Amino acid sequence: MDKSSKIRKCLFPAAGYGTRFLPATKAIPKEMLPVLTKPLLQYGVEEAISAGMGTMAIVTGRGKRAIEDHFDISYELENQIQGTSKEYLLRETRDVIEKCTFSYTRQREMKGLGHAILTGETLVGDEPFAVILADDLCDNAEGASVLSQMIAVYEKYQCSVVAVEEVPKEETKKYGVIAGEAIETNIVRVNDMVEKPDPQDAPSNLAIIGRYILTPDIFDILKETKPGKGGEIQITDALLAQAKEGKVIAFQFSGKRFDCGSVDGFVEATNYFYNKQK
Ligand code: UTP
Repeated sequence: MDKSSKIRKCLFPAAGYGTRFLPATKAIPKEMLPVLTKPLLQYGVEEAISAGMGTMAIVTGRGKRAIEDHFDISYELENQIQGTSKEYLLRETRDVIEKCTFSYTRQREMKGLGHAILTGETLVGDEPFAVILADDLCDNAEGASVLSQMIAVYEKYQCSVVAVEEVPKEETKKYGVIAGEAIETNIVRVNDMVEKPDPQDAPSNLAIIGRYILTPDIFDILKETKPGKGGEIQITDALLAQAKEGKVIAFQFSGKRFDCGSVDGFVEATNYFYNKQK
């Protein structure tokens, strides 16, 4: 691998069932639920574009066809609204489609986030790449997007980077939690990580959120990773192997993060973006 290689690809694991949003997610992918008028996945794609990426690799599953249709031209609809006052409503989506390419693969069995990322190997190949979990919606009103901030960290350290934020101790069991040595402001070299620990077992209150930059050796590690917490193949377990060699950086980003995989977080995000656009 060329050490200075630029991050060109962003992987979106989007095969999960989204059971917390049933019945809405019975026929509609969770990633297509809108905050205001824009689907979660489009926010993620826009963030990846803002961080300089032009290739979006999406891991889908059964019942997720709406995702492919969304990032495509809809001739009939566009023809219908062309020249009307509603044309601007599709402009952002059209811009996104023109700025990048999309490729898809299917995860046939939902064996966990680690397995979904491994399924994306065929789209990513042998180069470092970013991962966005679109149900973690991030915004940094002050400036650079969360993924852009992470790219700067990657360029300095040339190893995997995970975005972390402080969470209340009682919430550690919803996240992968890290421990390590602070080496700069907001930057920790990780030496331990635990998936969904009970508060008394959590090594810190720094929780991994849905933004990663991964070096491609993660794929070989994932192939050897046994199912962990919940019987799923966990990305946290694979990252621990890299962390043991000092090759994972945790980065406390600037900005806000909404857990749109939960109803509370989704409502909070909706209010935030509504107030922001007013
Ligand atoms: P979550 O656990 O938050 O998503 O996975 P979920 O399983 O879809 O949601 P609930 O808990 O049933 O409501 C985090 C991310 O990983 C993806 C999901 O699509 C989501 O973006 N994922 C998870 C996969 O792509 N495949 C999997 O096997 C598991």
